[in-house]
Amino acid sequence: MNKEMPKNFFWGNSTSSMQTEGGWNEGGKGLSVYDIRSATDHTMDWHVAIDNFHDYEKDLDLMKEMNMNMYRFQISWSRVCPTGDGAFNEEGIEFYSRLIDDLLARGIEPMICLYHFDMPLALAEKYNGFLSRHVKDAFVSFGKEMIRRFSSRVKYWIVFNEHNLYFTDETFQISGYEKGDRSLSDLYAIFHHTMLAHCEISAYLHKFDQTAKIGGMVAYTEIYPASTAPADNLAVRKQEEFLYQNLCDVYTYGRYSNEVMTFVKNNKIDMDYLSGEDDAILAAGKADFISFSYYRSALLDASLIPAGEAPNRYLNEGLCLDETLPASPWKWTIDATGFRNIITRLYNQFGLPIFPIENGIGLYEEWDGQNEIQDDQRIQYHRAHIQAMKDAIFIDGADVIGYLGWGLIDIPSSHADMNKRYGAVYVNRTNHELLDLKRVPKKSFHWFKRILETNGNTL
Ligand code: BG6
Repeated sequence: MNKEMPKNFFWGNSTSSMQTEGGWNEGGKGLSVYDIRSATDHTMDWHVAIDNFHDYEKDLDLMKEMNMNMYRFQISWSRVCPTGDGAFNEEGIEFYSRLIDDLLARGIEPMICLYHFDMPLALAEKYNGFLSRHVKDAFVSFGKEMIRRFSSRVKYWIVFNEHNLYFTDETFQISGYEKGDRSLSDLYAIFHHTMLAHCEISAYLHKFDQTAKIGGMVAYTEIYPASTAPADNLAVRKQEEFLYQNLCDVYTYGRYSNEVMTFVKNNKIDMDYLSGEDDAILAAGKADFISFSYYRSALLDASLIPAGEAPNRYLNEGLCLDETLPASPWKWTIDATGFRNIITRLYNQFGLPIFPIENGIGLYEEWDGQNEIQDDQRIQYHRAHIQAMKDAIFIDGADVIGYLGWGLIDIPSSHADMNKRYGAVYVNRTNHELLDLKRVPKKSFHWFKRILETNGNTL
């Protein structure tokens, strides 16, 4: 059996703009909903993040030193278009143009993500974010402009980070929804508008530049039934259909799942679906690959789910832990086999190349100012997950494009700020003290460097 990793396999790092850039009110940037978070969320100062707006070069050098050949970053919509639907800000566009050139100069392939939870504030306040078709259209215009500006240099694109979260209760926090009754109709309409946007942008990229590729992206938690009870099995199958299949059906076949649309009909949900017009948009927006984030697995216990709850929503209530498996300090179950199963299942079912673009473990870490951080647990985590991916490739036959770790240079976590670090490089700041923001390689930095040097062939 050939066990050589594919040539041109991508290894790299993955981030979002609000978790890296800082410079929240500089360079002509408009406000996003995230920029006002500091005023209400006192756990940390979000306005600096790891200060990449002022200095990203040292981080690119570290990625290069780790032998990475891809970096997934996000273009902040409000940096390049301050109001979201008005004039473009050339200074913001120039920032990303420079970043792309500086990546390419180091032999690092850029991957662009267009949206990662940070709605321009004006669009949230005026229109309720993605609940509005006007906002969907404004987002599509922004996406098309970025394609015109950058696709000659950027060949890998994704539209929404963790697109299936726009079909869960988190929808209301991440889509710019400011007011409303959080009804199922609102939730489904927001989801539908984001799906249309994904498809319109994908179709445009395919027309504009046939050498560029665009992927769907979902947050994948491997879910097992909490018991052998048929009800648990049914609940797992249903959430799989609503939260994963339904999106991958659009990415692959250009239509929603029949089971989901039956639920819409039976429950008289008004998802603002314009038949004819929207059918054509969905059909034209197929993806070139399926990407996903993976951190953990969990159990689903049907008895915890309130009666009548929609399957796209009930993960919030029904999830529980398998206490027999190891877990991170945040009780995220560590399960590399789940990772392999997802890769193989997605490839078997949809036949598109698969790309895990977020993986990692959050740990409490504090640098003493002198000694290297010994993050053996992180090394173990990545080693096990890369091995599981190799099993999916070599034993199960999956076609995998690459492997990107999440936040491999420390960034604030979305749930636990600087207390929860994913990096192979320590960034010297705390929630409230910016300190010197110095970059300090941890033990895993040297590990990544060694294994990426051999294209992951030795682990
Ligand atoms: C993903 C998000 O869900 O998980 C990131 O895309 C986030 O924004 C990452 O940081 C890890 O989650 P957390 O909560 O540990 O930061």
